[in-house]
Amino acid sequence: MLIRPAAEQDLPAIKAIYDAEVLGGISTFTTTPPELDYWETRLSSSAPGYHVLVAEGDGEVLGYAYSTSYRPREAYARTRETSVYLAPGARGRGVGRALYDALLAAMRQDGVHLVVAVIALPNDASVALHRASGFESVGVLHEVGHKFGRWIDTELVELRL
Ligand SMILES: CC(C)(COP(=O)(O)OP(=O)(O)OC[C@H]1O[C@@H](n2cnc3c(N)ncnc32)[C@H](O)[C@@H]1OP(=O)(O)O)[C@@H](O)C(=O)NCCC(=O)NCCS
Repeated sequence: MLIRPAAEQDLPAIKAIYDAEVLGGISTFTTTPPELDYWETRLSSSAPGYHVLVAEGDGEVLGYAYSTSYRPREAYARTRETSVYLAPGARGRGVGRALYDALLAAMRQDGVHLVVAVIALPNDASVALHRASGFESVGVLHEVGHKFGRWIDTELVELRL
């Protein structure tokens, strides 16, 4: 398995992985698959602390992780939010951890101070991945989302780099 920065040709595979979760999972609160230019915009952001990484195995994109702004206001400048998604067949064998290790190392190199992630519950794999990567729970927002006809809680986790 290879962890590397994402390139333009990875975007259809990234989009397919995300779209499946948009339409069939609760890990994202988006309900309409974003167009490819959403991913092109994300990839084109080259400022420090912004990364899109992919895990590749046998020439296939197994999954991706990215860091983006937490909130637009200036004083949040050294905080980033992270996200990670794998193709169903790639889960549970260390790919998420490898992506996060590389992403956090790149962010540390950039001088990012705090990393935040939001986990829609229940998501045992994501809770375990964040805990294994050093994140600590900050708390749970109850019934903050509504998808597939039911209320969903989110857990906020943080890691000080
Ligand atoms: C969440 C996700 C990225 C985790 O990646 P992964 O490659 O499956 O996780 P890893 O194999 O790297 O495991 C990381 C840790 O989580 C644990 N873990 C993995 N799957 C688990 C599961 N289903 N239940 C409990 N623990 C689990 C592993 O044991 C490991 O912990 P350890 O290092 O203490 O042994 C992946 O399952 C996924 O893409 N899920 C769908 C999308 C999603 O939920 N994204 C997160 C949005 S917040």
